[in-house]
Amino acid sequence: MPASDEREIVIEGLHKAFDGRPVLQGVDLTIKRGEIVAIVGGSGCGKTVLLQHIFGHHQPDSGRVLVADHESPGSPLRDLATLDEDEMDRIRVHWAIVFQRNALLSGTVFHNLALWPREIHEWDDARIMPLARKALEAVGLDPDAVMHRDREELSGGMAKRVAIARAIVMDPVLVLYDEPTAGLDPEMSRQVHELIRQTHERLPGLGVPRTTLVVTHDTGLLRALRPRVVMLHDGRVRFDGDFSHFLASDDPHIKPYLEQMAFLHEQKRA
Ligand SMILES: Nc1ncnc2c1ncn2[C@@H]1O[C@H](COP(=O)(O)OP(=O)(O)O)[C@@H](O)[C@H]1O
Ligand SMILES: [Mg+2]
Repeated sequence: MPASDEREIVIEGLHKAFDGRPVLQGVDLTIKRGEIVAIVGGSGCGKTVLLQHIFGHHQPDSGRVLVADHESPGSPLRDLATLDEDEMDRIRVHWAIVFQRNALLSGTVFHNLALWPREIHEWDDARIMPLARKALEAVGLDPDAVMHRDREELSGGMAKRVAIARAIVMDPVLVLYDEPTAGLDPEMSRQVHELIRQTHERLPGLGVPRTTLVVTHDTGLLRALRPRVVMLHDGRVRFDGDFSHFLASDDPHIKPYLEQMAFLHEQKRA
């Protein structure tokens, strides 16, 4: 699905400090609808904090985060700071996040898949079940075998698939993944790359192309998905371009990061 010219996310001059320590120091970034974008950069450089701003979990100290409002005709950009809680919930219906370490709740797979449909729409189990089955099938799991399995009974690879299924159960237009292959072996990582690609390419029911953001250190993922690569460094966007240019870059801040990527990715495998 080619990216459209329409903007899905616009970040302008985003600054954020914690306890006086600056993390984001003027991030400017525009993401078009239908794009797949990898956010890379050293540990602690603010990748997760950036995702949290897009998701509305953090408010900027200064600067703006605008996100397309798919509940309004023409999907206009809305400044998250101007939305009240109800408006935020209305817009967020179309977003999903796959958290680092999955953040699955204790309980069954179904309990996890039902979390957002229950919370957002107050749907009952009978209404959620067919969506939950479809989401599990989309990530290559057999609904009959895993739906009522407990979180504790899932392997690492299955837990990641369930986390992705939970994210796509409501057929979101914007999907954010935070280090989706950290901790996975190479074969499982390849399967997750493929799931991210398939999910990205499947047209959402809303009829607008899906936009995907992936925070990662996984060069295998960059090779497989060929996303636009955005590197954060010193609180700003240091590189923005395709993977081959990123690999070939002689920027003194990019080369050492490239050399570290495999280590940073492997480190997470516990
Ligand atoms: N809620 C928070 N309170 C205080 N400091 C935070 C918080 N969230 C993140 N930080 C700090 O911000 C910096 C960037 O964190 P993060 O975005 O998680 O890094 P990464 O690029 O590895 O995802 C880190 O130094 C982290 O300790
Ligand atoms: Mg992080």
